[in-house]
Amino acid sequence: MFILGGTSAKNIATNLANRLQQPLVHTTYKRFPDDEFYVRLHDNIAGQDVLIVQTAYPDTKIVELFLIQDAVHDAGAKTITVILPYFGYSRQDKKFEEGEAISARAIAQHISMNVDCVITVDPHKDHVLKFFTVPAYSCTAVSTIAQYLKDKNIDFVLAPDKGAKERAKEAAALINCEYDFLEKTRIDGSTVKITPKKLDARGKHVAIIDDIISTGGTMAHSIKELKKQGAASVSVACTHGLFVGGAKEKLLAADCDEIISTDTIETEYSKVSAAECIAETLLKTTRIIKN
Ligand code: R5P
Repeated sequence: MFILGGTSAKNIATNLANRLQQPLVHTTYKRFPDDEFYVRLHDNIAGQDVLIVQTAYPDTKIVELFLIQDAVHDAGAKTITVILPYFGYSRQDKKFEEGEAISARAIAQHISMNVDCVITVDPHKDHVLKFFTVPAYSCTAVSTIAQYLKDKNIDFVLAPDKGAKERAKEAAALINCEYDFLEKTRIDGSTVKITPKKLDARGKHVAIIDDIISTGGTMAHSIKELKKQGAASVSVACTHGLFVGGAKEKLLAADCDEIISTDTIETEYSKVSAAECIAETLLKTTRIIKN
């Protein structure tokens, strides 16, 4: 088997190669003067099982993925598995208004071309997996995040909305502490309203867990609520750290004690790797490694 890391998932690709003890494909990636991407593979991968690891975010990385897929298919790989640490566009998973594109479906259908299987991490909603036209699986980085938080002596976990409740419950069980959740109403892409609620957080070291931190609005509101209610410290943890629109400043202004994310999107806050859950899922769901 060969592992091919795209430019947006170098850390996970290297980590997977080490864990699975399989070689990385040597590549040349460059950009033409007009900024178009160029891919060249240097290893003979004909007849091999190939894992392509590339986060589909932002847009330029999706084009890179399509070119990598084309090169791997053309080189005669026996099977192609695409590992999408973060599935960009997956939040537009239905038509909210008539006339809109279902972005998750559009991207998934194109990624499915010439591949055998797709694996992604903590998709916002599981039903997006059905948009791929090949077998698609998801895994969760919650246990890796929970282990990190346990080592930091977190003793209360909070979900910022009902959608993140199961994730918080799972993390709390692994940490062996209490959890609760807030009620969030989204006003628009960058504004949220959190309904006030009495939390059992006084004097506690709290971690707020969500799948994504985008503008940081959800987390900033939740931090303020917890600090108001006497939490000793508040850390925020997510799988996918997009950190757009001044998120970092917003979180620090809200008196956040620590920001933690995985490496599905590589940032200064990527303190844990999603490679472990991906490797486990590969072992469970594909025949590639077993053969
Ligand atoms: C939405 O339901 C997601 O789980 C996150 O809560 C959301 O994407 C976070 O966005 P932001 O950081 O912009 O508040």
